[in-house]
Amino acid sequence: MQQVQSAAATLDADPTIEMAREIAEGFARRPKEIPAKYLYDALGSKLFEAICELPWYRITRGEHSLLAAHAGAIMSASGGCDTVVELGGGSGEKLSVLLAAAGGRELDVHLVDISPAALAQSERNLAAHLSVTLHAHEADYETGVREALRRRRTDGRALVLFLGSNIGNLSPDQAGHFLQELRRACRPGDRLLLGADLVKPEAELLLAYDDPLGLTAAFNKNVLARLNRELDADFDLLAFDHCVEWNPAASRIEVYLVSRADQLVCIRGAGCCTSIDEGERIWTESSYKYEPAGIAEMGARAGFTVREQWIEPESRFALTLFESES
Ligand code: AVJ
Repeated sequence: MQQVQSAAATLDADPTIEMAREIAEGFARRPKEIPAKYLYDALGSKLFEAICELPWYRITRGEHSLLAAHAGAIMSASGGCDTVVELGGGSGEKLSVLLAAAGGRELDVHLVDISPAALAQSERNLAAHLSVTLHAHEADYETGVREALRRRRTDGRALVLFLGSNIGNLSPDQAGHFLQELRRACRPGDRLLLGADLVKPEAELLLAYDDPLGLTAAFNKNVLARLNRELDADFDLLAFDHCVEWNPAASRIEVYLVSRADQLVCIRGAGCCTSIDEGERIWTESSYKYEPAGIAEMGARAGFTVREQWIEPESRFALTLFESES
């Protein structure tokens, strides 16, 4: 493990080495952990898109109806921005709704995603917006947004989109840190549109993350198939069950893969073998749920003021438009 780590320090531009290091680190923790970002290989991105269509997963529809209803208000409250940056946008569909409300204005649009498949899909979906110059960044949020905001060609305003409750994968500490970094990359007056899922009854949350069609289970187990392929691991996908818990104290859904038996797994590309006990859980994802006031406070702590907040009452989803303070 040590060796993998020092190699990553010198070659941290290589995504496979970075992945090997993070996976080895995750399996050394208790509970064992796989960072959620690795769920999104080409198949994982497609499975996630299918999840968004499930009747039990209401984030995408709730957010879409807010965007459709308020796109004009959002674009005009963004005060003639000439740069739009979308973080982890997936298919580019949400961005499309906003761009349609920009009235053919010339815009530099930066897509930041760790999945090349998602970037390609967005580029296809956005090709119809002729007044838009597209820039793709295959990068994590922090690196990508820094790159995009630094490369601005004009002194106009930027609108940063962090939608789909992607922020839900971050712990409160990580989210706070990320918003501070984002604030540092912003100029005063830049806007942030944040989409965040709200706390709702436990039964609804469990159905959203453990759907009766088993699509979310497939999405979760696919990360093991990815480790087998990309890191030469030997996970038996049939030896794990998808398991979801609501943790009310932490206000988060916790997603696990539970081992059906005592087993030994080797992840050769990460230089580690690990024994997994029957019933032991590998933590693959957290999905934090918010209260509207908590979203505003989180922004305020990072130096963002709320300009407007819209709430979709049925799916309980919030869109918050912030302004970066001077
Ligand atoms: C993409 C992080 C917003 O947490 O709802 C969906 C991912 N995981 N079903 C979420 C996810 C299982 C999703 N985010």
